Amino acid sequence: MGRRESRPVNILGIETSCDETSAAVVRDGNRVRSNVVASQVALHRAHGGVVPELAARGHITAIVPVVEAALREAGIARPEIDAVAVTGGPGLAGSLLVGVNVGKTLAYALDKPLIPVNHLEGHIYANWLTLSAVDPPPKPQFPVLCLLVSGGHSELILVEDHGRYRHLGRTRDDAAGEAFDKGARLLGLGYPGGPVIQRAAQGGDPDRFAMPRAWLGESDDFSFSGLKTALLRLVEPYRLPSPTVEATPESPFVVHQPPRYRDDLPVADLAAAYQTAIVEVLAVKTARAARREGARTIALAGGVAANEALRARIAIEAARECAGNPPPVVFPPVSLCTDNAAMIAGAGFWALREGRQGGWEVDVHPRLPLGSANRAND
Ligand code: KG4
Ligand code: ZN
Repeated sequence: MGRRESRPVNILGIETSCDETSAAVVRDGNRVRSNVVASQVALHRAHGGVVPELAARGHITAIVPVVEAALREAGIARPEIDAVAVTGGPGLAGSLLVGVNVGKTLAYALDKPLIPVNHLEGHIYANWLTLSAVDPPPKPQFPVLCLLVSGGHSELILVEDHGRYRHLGRTRDDAAGEAFDKGARLLGLGYPGGPVIQRAAQGGDPDRFAMPRAWLGESDDFSFSGLKTALLRLVEPYRLPSPTVEATPESPFVVHQPPRYRDDLPVADLAAAYQTAIVEVLAVKTARAARREGARTIALAGGVAANEALRARIAIEAARECAGNPPPVVFPPVSLCTDNAAMIAGAGFWALREGRQGGWEVDVHPRLPLGSANRAND
């Protein structure tokens, strides 16, 4: 018997669930051959957050050049694409529609399978990706305890095997990234909040101000809304009056006015206290769940996984909780933590292996839960 031919599998990924237009080519579910991300941050910055209609229109104009660039950078011709993976949800409906339509059209034109991918599954699978063929990081070992923290989600998920998820906990109010974004807005630091708070916190004293931690007993759930209120109380005494700006027919969106403060606002200490409060709860709860579930790897995923304080604290808490035998902690490179299409192509590879491909009925699902099929009437 001859050996089975093992030809590399190239998947084109497309991601448009929020405010990044992205396309990527990934080989065999791990090697990123290209990952092009057109960010709309500048478009939304004036509004202090993502404006759904602007986001959808931004994708419409960006998507084709972004796909072209991803193919060019990967150095492959269209016929070498084996399948098209596209984010079907969760996300903003108008934004998702752009990617799903382009993905469907490409799959149809190329006569290749279309794989609808859950955005959250994509974030998880960023942990299997490698940007370079040299020194690829160790592969996560199942069961993987994944802390998925982004602008819309804070979830603890036990990944028992490829495509098999057990949801352990979720946020009861704000997501961790949302807490960073709201905190940054309150401090007048801009958008997106995570990177600016991380920068502002450098050299700050995290113990100067007391911030609440919502432990919620033994639950694996999270809650971050109390933090915002605590920060609001602390900054209020430093606040200066802001001028109001009304919407006009020429400028129909009310432009976000950042709060203004006296010069002696202790930004570094406040940012450090705020960041530490978020990071501590995430790290302690993740380590506790990892020990309880016998996880062999702890993985971070989502935009907040880019946070350096979180990366460091998780390792400390895992060592404390699982004394003597802590599972390794893995996280994707920063460029693969925030929204990108490489993670969608990566997850698409494993979905294709399990026969989870879609047909022309693939639809968008703004609130698609992890682990459910993407069908028209889900
Ligand atoms: O995964 P992502 O790009 O989009 C969603 O699916 O939501 O995550 C975006 C979130 C934002 O809330 C942003 O503030 C946060 O990730 N973020 C960070 C950092 N970089 C991005 N949060 C903390 N520290 C960072 N370095
Ligand atoms: Zn995301």
